Amino acid sequence: MALIEDLKWRHAVKAYNPSEKVSQENIEKIVEAARLAPTSSGLQPFRVLVIENQEIKNKLSEGALNPECMREASHIIIFAAWNRYTAERIDKVYDFTTEERGLPQGRFSAYTDKLKSIYLQEDAEVNFAHTARQSYIALGLALAQAAELRVDSTPVEGFNHAHIDQVLELEKLGLKSVSLMYVGVSDPSRDWIAPMKKVRISKEEFVIEYK
Ligand SMILES: Cc1cc2nc3c(=O)[nH]c(=O)nc-3n(C[C@H](O)[C@H](O)[C@H](O)COP(=O)(O)O)c2cc1C
Repeated sequence: MALIEDLKWRHAVKAYNPSEKVSQENIEKIVEAARLAPTSSGLQPFRVLVIENQEIKNKLSEGALNPECMREASHIIIFAAWNRYTAERIDKVYDFTTEERGLPQGRFSAYTDKLKSIYLQEDAEVNFAHTARQSYIALGLALAQAAELRVDSTPVEGFNHAHIDQVLELEKLGLKSVSLMYVGVSDPSRDWIAPMKKVRISKEEFVIEYK
């Protein structure tokens, strides 16, 4: 039940206290939850960028739906996914996995050939839609980990993707921003949504059962 209680505790914070910082230890646990997320074929086709630097936060906030929130959060975790699949990227992951597991080289080559035959003939946009979806699982786990630590956070899609990609030169890394997670300490005087009831549709409406 602990996880359910954690999820009931959390809410998408609307304003942070700029003078409060989240500990490095807690940031590392949140990022670790993201790193441990399952991904399609285990490719982990995304990275997280952890921004604490105030100047960079200010720069990134241009064009955001709620720029103040971004500037005042203690940290911004950016989920950025591979802009496309490549043979090199797929091979690198599977060479590493093979080595880590002490398996003979080429153990997964039939499987990676299959992956390449599917992904490499798709447009980059189709690849990115897939890599981006993987990153949302990590965002969800990071939100849950923050809640377990009683660290306030906000999942965010309301930002200027092109601007963030350009400021952080993500193209050079073969990445494109997908979502953000603000992490910090809520400012109760301005976090207007905090006292409101958490609203979800009923279980009856949500679950479609076939017994
Ligand atoms: C992928 C995603 C993107 C979101 N983008 C924003 C956003 O840009 N700004 C914002 O204030 N909240 C954003 N939210 C928060 C949702 O509005 C919020 O999670 C939802 O209303 C449920 O409320 P709760 O998280 O407080 O339970 C986002 C949530 C998710 C999952």
